[in-house]
Amino acid sequence: MSDRVQPPRVLGTPRIHFSRTDSTNERARELAARGAPHGTLVTAGEQTAGRGRQGRTWTAPPASAILCSLVIREPPRLLPLAAGVAVAEVVGPEARVKWPNDVLVDGRKLAGILVEGRPQQRWAVLGIGLNVAVREHDFPPELRDRAGTMGLGPEAVEPTLERLLERLELWLREPQSAVLEALRTRDALAGRHVRWGGGEGEAAGIDGEGRLVVMTDAGRAALEAGEVHLVGA
Ligand code: BTN
Repeated sequence: MSDRVQPPRVLGTPRIHFSRTDSTNERARELAARGAPHGTLVTAGEQTAGRGRQGRTWTAPPASAILCSLVIREPPRLLPLAAGVAVAEVVGPEARVKWPNDVLVDGRKLAGILVEGRPQQRWAVLGIGLNVAVREHDFPPELRDRAGTMGLGPEAVEPTLERLLERLELWLREPQSAVLEALRTRDALAGRHVRWGGGEGEAAGIDGEGRLVVMTDAGRAALEAGEVHLVGA
């Protein structure tokens, strides 16, 4: 047992739950813009217009996934990366993080994270979708070889959310160096050939600013944001 005194948990209070809504990120953004406190949590049993990164959609059958968004005030600079580490911990030791924050097991994506913010107003919404109890055959055919699930029952969704809030609380307080160290131990891209909008090369780790380092024919590149694709995966 730790003898360190933990500050009380603030993530998850207040909580607004919708059995069905368009997007928890949309609901949380509205609440944030109206002054909702840090830690406000929006959850949904089902989303009709769940948003993913790069303009994609995010879908999950009802009551089978964590679909949540948190209002984060004064967000840490590495919020998207820290969230990836927290989600990976909840999934288990086998989970890897594909920079910046896709959580994978055996190359299949179980969780996605979408951070949307208003930097001028110093808030962000941290949206997380985690396939806790989605069944393999529920994935649309085009995703079946790329999407993953924790493979638990629907009764595990709520306890898994509790654990996620606990891990997020911890990782959002950790210094940048600790977040990066944890991320490096789960780096799904290290040594792999990757391609992105601006080129391709071999992923060579994550630097001290949280950027993905790639060795290309033209030299060393450090990607700030965006998405990379594994080549030959
Ligand atoms: C990704 O494309 O990897 C990010 C997916 C993020 C999905 C979650 S589900 C809960 C929250 N509400 C949304 O509309 N999107 C995020």
